[in-house]
Amino acid sequence: MVKHEKFSNKLSAVFVAAGCSVGLGNIWRFPYVVGENGGGAFLFVYLIAIIMIGLPVMISEFVVGRSTGVGAVPAYRKLGGNKWKLLGYNSIVTSTLIMGFYYVVAGWTAEYFAISVTGELANYSTAAEYKDLFANFVTNPWKPILYTWIFIAANHVVIQRGVTKGLEKVSNILMPIFFVILIIMAINSLMMPNSLEGVKFFLQPDLSKITPTVILQAVGQAFFSLSIGLGALVIYGAYMPKSNNLRTTAMQVSFLDTIVAIIAGLIIFPATSSVGVDPTSGPALVFETLPMIFNQLPFSMLWASIFFLLLMIAAITSTMSLHEVGTVFLMEKFHIERSRATYFVSLSLGLLASIASLSMGVWNEYKLFGMNLFSLLDYFTANITLPLGGMLTSIFVGWKMQKSLFIRELSNNGLEPFNLYRSVYFMLKYVCPTIIFIIFLNGLGLF
Ligand code: PHE
Repeated sequence: MVKHEKFSNKLSAVFVAAGCSVGLGNIWRFPYVVGENGGGAFLFVYLIAIIMIGLPVMISEFVVGRSTGVGAVPAYRKLGGNKWKLLGYNSIVTSTLIMGFYYVVAGWTAEYFAISVTGELANYSTAAEYKDLFANFVTNPWKPILYTWIFIAANHVVIQRGVTKGLEKVSNILMPIFFVILIIMAINSLMMPNSLEGVKFFLQPDLSKITPTVILQAVGQAFFSLSIGLGALVIYGAYMPKSNNLRTTAMQVSFLDTIVAIIAGLIIFPATSSVGVDPTSGPALVFETLPMIFNQLPFSMLWASIFFLLLMIAAITSTMSLHEVGTVFLMEKFHIERSRATYFVSLSLGLLASIASLSMGVWNEYKLFGMNLFSLLDYFTANITLPLGGMLTSIFVGWKMQKSLFIRELSNNGLEPFNLYRSVYFMLKYVCPTIIFIIFLNGLGLF
């Protein structure tokens, strides 16, 4: 049995787990889903989804990890028998597939950082030009692949060094830098003329805009953003010392994740309203619309460089976690050492991500269910395997796992009693599985 390292202190545990949760999902995905789903109304539902569904499931993953001390596959097997091992496999498959497209987007952030630093990004001005620039880049046969591999190599070095010397050290350095940049960017956006319009769009909920789609999108986004349902938080639970209070850690991590998403909104929406563009441009929002806005500011490339550095940091701390999930799986399954497992994950992921990248351009004609590989990976994980993982996790903890073990883990063996455990348990047993099941059916396109 592989014996895992433990985090060296509570703050590191929060930084590593927050680094995993805070990612492109907060800065790239969140603003465009808010933009497409009615602004403040979406935010309102999103916050409820984080508290009611995200937080209980996050706590559950920590509990499963810490009580067993191992990664998702052996953890669910230990607690639930061979059948539940499949839930562990679901998380491994999900994290692998997510990595397939996430590393590609991570690569884009690195390219945009590079062309901001060199000033090339300033050579364009109209929306159409920025659109072309982005389209030419993502469909290029080798450039995005090169950047993706650079990203994977950086992750490789960190993961090979292990938990305390790798993950912890890098998160402890990058997370504080991340927060400083985030706040500077938000202040800059809020000082733009006409920024208040954007703030209003983002923060003022027009409740009439809440539709079933808004609710479904909000819960899906909460899952993706908190990184639940794919084993990363299980293994981080396993790295947490017995003295860590799991519910406090879960609350701190979800709080940080949510606050980052909100501040990211305060960077994007004031900026779009100040130049009068619609924030509904979807995934292209930060790669097409924002560079155009930056270019109208004094010191344009400085702002663009800082922003894409922010995105890169967000991406790297998340990809590290996904890489760790795969690496730990191989270490546990085949009893190999970390270094070999890391090589195996880096190479196979590099291959998958390269194919996903090519599917945006030269291989775009090869489609399955009408989607290229890149979109298919995104669609399949966001709509099927992630909600499935979240639903089964809540069912597992609510119905299968011993209640006494759950309470013991949450109260640190009774030393730190938890009065709200009944409510959390109730949510896990009934509310979370029901809501997630509806989302799952919707993701399958059944209604
Ligand atoms: N939560 C990350 C984000 O918001 C995405 C992610 C999902 C990272 C799963 C790791 C594991 O970008």
